[in-house]
This record gives sequence, C-alpha cells and structure tokens, in this order.
Amino acid sequence: MEYTVKSGSPEKQRIGCVVAAVFASRKLSPSAKVLDKASGGLISNLIRRGELEGDIGGTLLLHNVENTLCDRILLIGCGKEKDLDTSAYCQINKVMASTLEANGATEVASYLTEIPVKNRSLGWKIQLAIEGIEDALYKFTQLKTDKKTSRRPLRKFIFSVSGRGQLMDGEAAVRTGMAIASGIRLCKDIANLPGNLCTPDYIARQALNMQKQFPATRVQVMEENELEQLGMGAFLSVSKGSAQPGKLITIEYSGGTETQKPIVFVGKGVTFDSGGISLKPGAAMDEMKFDMCGAASVLGAITACAELQLEINLVGVIPTVENMPDGKASKPGDIVTSMSGQTIEILNTDAEGRLILCDALTYAERFDPDAVIDIATLTGACVVALGEHPAGLLSNHRPLVNGLLNAGQASGDRCWELPLWDDYQSQLDSNFADMANIGGKSAGAITAACFLSRFAKKYHWAHLDIAGIAWRSGKEKGATGRPVGLLVQYVLDRIAE
Ligand code: BES
Ligand code: MN
Ligand code: ZN
Repeated sequence: MEYTVKSGSPEKQRIGCVVAAVFASRKLSPSAKVLDKASGGLISNLIRRGELEGDIGGTLLLHNVENTLCDRILLIGCGKEKDLDTSAYCQINKVMASTLEANGATEVASYLTEIPVKNRSLGWKIQLAIEGIEDALYKFTQLKTDKKTSRRPLRKFIFSVSGRGQLMDGEAAVRTGMAIASGIRLCKDIANLPGNLCTPDYIARQALNMQKQFPATRVQVMEENELEQLGMGAFLSVSKGSAQPGKLITIEYSGGTETQKPIVFVGKGVTFDSGGISLKPGAAMDEMKFDMCGAASVLGAITACAELQLEINLVGVIPTVENMPDGKASKPGDIVTSMSGQTIEILNTDAEGRLILCDALTYAERFDPDAVIDIATLTGACVVALGEHPAGLLSNHRPLVNGLLNAGQASGDRCWELPLWDDYQSQLDSNFADMANIGGKSAGAITAACFLSRFAKKYHWAHLDIAGIAWRSGKEKGATGRPVGLLVQYVLDRIAE
C-alpha cells in the first residue's frame, strides 16, 4: 500500500473515504466537528440518537454526506480521550483497517493523526498506524490455490496533518513505519511456512537473498563439517537426529563506522521441534513449525534496518536445525562438549533450543559485540509465567534491560523482566557433566536463561523468550511478526542516544 502525508480540511477531500475519531462518550474530535458542521449537524444528530457511543471497537459508516467531497465517512470510536495509551491506539488502528477492508474503499484519508496519545508524537502515531494496518491486512495465501484476493483492495492511505510544517516529520515516520512493516511481513512469511518447506536450508537461502537485496549486508552459511571444526558439540547433538543438515548463518550489516562495535542478534531457528527422543505429545505439535520464529525475527529486523540504511553495525547469528527422533539422535543421558569447552548432560532432548543457542552465543564473541540479544521460542514455562502479551526478558546488564523495556513501550511490542538470580543456577547441577540441559519443574523460563548465561559471560547480553508472543494459536493461528518491532525500536533508540 502507498502511504502519504497531506494537510487539508476533511470536508474538502475528494476521496473514497475520510476517517475521523469520536471519543467516549459521544464526543466529536476536531475533524468530526468540521464534518458535522459542513453537513448541517448530521453527525451530531446520529450520535445523539445512539448510533455511536465512541467506545473502542465501535464504528459508523456514512455515505454521500452533504457538503463533503468524499464518498464515505468512517467514524471510529476511540474510547475516553484522556485514557488513550499505546495499546488503545493499536486496537483503534486494527478496527479501522478491518472496517476499511470490508467496505471497499480503495483510497483513504485518515484524521486519526489528531487524536492525543499520552507522550507520543505525530511521527509515532503514523509509524504505528502503518504497522497496525499492514498487520491487520496481512494474509498468508502462498499455499492456497484460491488466493481470494479482494477485488477492491486498499491502495492508498493518506495521513492528514494539521499544517505543512508537519510534512517532513510525517514523511520520515512513513518511511520508518513501512520499513518495519516489511520486516514484520518477511518474518511472518518465513515463520508461517511449514517445516517441510521451511528447512534450515530454506532459512539460509532467505539470508542469502538479503545479501543480494542490500549491498551493506554480508551473509555466511556454515555447514556441519565446519561447525565440527569449531567444536560446536552442543549444536551438532541436535542436528544429528535429522535428515536436514543444520547450518549456522551469520548476517553482517555494516551501516556504521568500521570501529563501531555491533549489536548482535542471535535467533533460534529450529524449523521443526518434535522434541527428539523426548518426543512431544501429539496435540498441537504442528505449532512447533514456529520454533524458528527467533530466526525469522532476526531476518525481519535486519531487513528493516538495512532498508532504512541505519548508521549502525548489526550482526545476525542464526543457528538452524530440525529436532527429530532418529537412530542417530541424541538420547537422554548423553553428554556433549560445547564450543566453550563446558560439558552438558542432555537430560531431555526437547530442551534443544539452549543447545544450539549456547554454541551460537560462544560464536558471537568473535564479533566483539556492544551487546548480544538472543531471541528464542525457548520455553513453555515462559508462556505460563507471562502469557501472550510480553516477551520474557532476562539479562546480565541493567542498561540493556532498560533499553529493551523502553523500546517495548514505545513500539507496543513489549517485554517484561524475569530475575536472572544466581539462586536458580544450582537447578542445573549434573552428577556427570558441568551442567544439565534442564533445571527441573520450577521456574523453567529462568533456568533456561541461567543455562544460556553461562555462555554469555564475556559481553552484555539479553535473552528474549518469545514462546508466548511469536505466534497465535486457534482460529487465527499464525506468526505475529513479533518481536521485530521491539528489536528495530531498540536499534533506533541506540542510534538516537
Ligand atoms: N520450542 C519449545 C518451547 C515451546 C513449547 C514454545 C511450547 C512454545 C510452546 C522448546 O524447545 C521446548 O520444548 N522446551 C521445553 C523445555 C523443557 C524440556 C525443559 C518446554 O518448554 O517444555
Ligand atoms: Mn523443544
Ligand atoms: Zn524448541
């Protein structure tokens, strides 16, 4: 879709649809007032009759309103004006996008830019609106024979601003919003593919595509024999049970100066997690195709940053494997040596994410990172602890925690800290090796992070457990594209600091 920024009065827009806000209860926004006045009080009359209260979720569509040049006016309930926060704003955009899609307008001018969101700028509103609209309109139809594309899709979306002085800010926000939306789309497209198509090799080819698309990126794909040379015994203990060879992908984006230390993103890329010999139960096992959402979010985030030509150095490290039961697969009780030299007793082959990530974290040392952030659908326990709203955040560095929490607030793609206290470390004790790969019944998200922390001692590190946020189950099953928004916002904030 094409997004532009324009100033002008709502009744003078010669366009398919004008969108304006109504607040609870029954309070017209400035643009709704202008339209109301032009139409001789039509809107206020309808609202007095109870057609729209102004609560979030409510909409009212009017056709051919007198003394306006548009075909339709869409009034959107925005809730109480003083309660408008990020999550309310995201909800409003979602309602707007799905209503517009259903009513057949192809060109839209939105005046929702004028609604006040606490502590947020016009640019922020435009950026998040684009992300919200693109999210709401996304469909994964690649594998359907009937693509059911709308005959009248939304083509053009104009953000109205109050004066010409706001055009520059608005246009910059459009560029940022569109780049993030395209990173999110890439993340969803890769993550929604099933395990038979989205293999470690497929992910490697997606990374290599990025190198073609963006001259500032360099991609390297390492095969199992090279990983053996590096001593990645933990990684290989997972990949050896699969007919699909595992790979370690690195993507270097050089937008900064040569001496600037990079931010390294490490993304878990398990293209299917059967559990291995510690086989998972059958119910909803199909969803374990999403166990590569960390990897997909790294590809999406770096794509967005490269598209924006951000002046920063980034590295993506993606360990990617399939976790399968097999005659060659690792067995409970097996002991392997990680690249760091530390030995690991594999008590449960379903705790495979940490086994591939630990070697990737050791590998990340060679980039002399400013910070390392790993992103992984790591534990069901994180979903139990935090549900599906924030990602779990655990880190060995306070400023990194604060940076990620703030970026989460700003992007609407939130995370929440869990304690990485030493008290939990003893749960990983093993009688036979340096550590076990599981930490027992309690605090599963934390002990998983404790395990990773033992491989991340040489740099500032944060772990995002995205098991609860990376995809939705049920009727709306599919990848969410999170936490691409969070990661890009963190990068933008670091550049601005
Ligand atoms: N990929 C899963 C984590 C997961 C499970 C994410 C369910 C989303 C929903 C991970 O590899 C895994 O299996 N973790 C185990 C760890 C356990 C064996 C210590 C889990 O969470 O059950
Ligand atoms: Mn698993
Ligand atoms: Zn897994």
